[in-house]
Amino acid sequence: MSSPEADRERLFFALWPDPPIRDRLKTLAREVVGRNGRRTAADKLHLTLAFLGARTAGERDCMTAAAAQVGVAPFTLRLDLVGHWRRPRILWAGASVTPAGLMELVGALNAHLVPCGYQPESRPFQAHLTLARKATRPVPLTPVEPIEWPVHSFCLVRSVIASTGSRYEILHTWPLGPEPVSAAPGT
Ligand code: 2AM
Repeated sequence: MSSPEADRERLFFALWPDPPIRDRLKTLAREVVGRNGRRTAADKLHLTLAFLGARTAGERDCMTAAAAQVGVAPFTLRLDLVGHWRRPRILWAGASVTPAGLMELVGALNAHLVPCGYQPESRPFQAHLTLARKATRPVPLTPVEPIEWPVHSFCLVRSVIASTGSRYEILHTWPLGPEPVSAAPGT
């Protein structure tokens, strides 16, 4: 008999960069990471909106339906900072100004996910893309050449833990728009 854990998927909602933004982030990571940690592979670069943890198929269905209720307009995210968090040993790219649209998106997702059993983070949301893990050397908050990211969609992602690190699979992508959106399978 399989354990309850075996029937669960590790899920999160994220912003996934399109190739042009991904390439700029890849270049930025090359410039700032150096030997300070393990650089995130370009195709794994993302910004987590809500980390859901290990979820059943029923919870996943509920959360997928909840995401379709989110009616937030597209926005631009201006990534203009690189920073370091000592405890998780993460080197990240972030924004000196978090756009209202991003805060709305996270707030709306959180609110719609609660009835599915999600407990939103008590810590304030800190928008970041992890550029490197195991970054032991502290790096001061540093302004960088801004990357203007036009955000038109968000997605539900499955994280599969493998011996080579996590593999991410995009399960659904929803376009942003002022009206609640319907789920589109795949990307
Ligand atoms: P991170 O980039 O700061 O590590 C998949 O694991 C994604 O979910 C990562 O982007 C990770 O953020 C984020 N995440 C947030 N909370 C997490 C948690 N408690 N455990 C694992 N990942 C988490």
